[in-house]
Amino acid sequence: MSRESKPIGIFDSGIGGLTVLKEIYKQLPYESTVYLGDTARVPYGIRSPETVTRYSFENTRFLFSKEVKMIVIACNTASSVSLESVRSSVSVPVVGVIEPGAKAAAAATINKKIGVIGTEATIKSNSYAKAILNIDKDIEVFGVACPLLVPLVEEGWTEGSIAEMTAEKYLQDIKKNGIDTLVLGCTHYPLMKGILSRVMGENVNLIDSAIETAREIRAVLHDLSLLNSSGEEIIREFYVTDSPEKFKSVGERFLGEHIQHIKKIKLEMEV
Ligand code: DGL
Repeated sequence: MSRESKPIGIFDSGIGGLTVLKEIYKQLPYESTVYLGDTARVPYGIRSPETVTRYSFENTRFLFSKEVKMIVIACNTASSVSLESVRSSVSVPVVGVIEPGAKAAAAATINKKIGVIGTEATIKSNSYAKAILNIDKDIEVFGVACPLLVPLVEEGWTEGSIAEMTAEKYLQDIKKNGIDTLVLGCTHYPLMKGILSRVMGENVNLIDSAIETAREIRAVLHDLSLLNSSGEEIIREFYVTDSPEKFKSVGERFLGEHIQHIKKIKLEMEV
């Protein structure tokens, strides 16, 4: 297999990273992909940085065994706390979801007030605020953790009064700050875009990290001459650490298409 025709390896704590995979399919249809959802240990968003980093290394090691040409950390929580350590420990490029989202948000804001919503771990890490301030130190960033949105999306409750009331409660303070841009800093939130945009109002830009991340992946592969132009047949594989059936039924909603070839694996637990 030539270097360029090797697959892109993508991991997430579970199914949420499929929103990133969907964008990869859209923007990079000629690439092979190997997706790992660590469904046995989801959610990562409530765990300590040390634990999430250990999981990230185990996921990376597994993807490496599939001879990937790049690692995509398609999870905001894992990107927030472990991107740098994973990046410095492997020989292939590693793309996370924070920098692309931060770049897009900094480019979109006019009044220089940006809101970020994510899991507890992502907000606590300040990863988005750091990345945004690195680009423009005059931007004000307001973060809010919205832990209940992940289970709502997993249940498929992305519309309706419960989802709307929950979103309103979480966003009420951030709205008072007069932000003009809101980063959807969690893999699950793009599925609630409808409600989030209604609650925030039409003048607030919603930044979907998934779209920006796929753009970044394309740019990195292009710069390294690793875009697949081999014409060889591509593969699209899925691995999970818990029930493939559950992953399939919820995941197909995230991906918007049928998921085939899902294998359950056991990750090696030593770091
Ligand atoms: N994938 C996670 C993220 O983007 C959300 C789910 C979790 O907490 O593991 O932060």
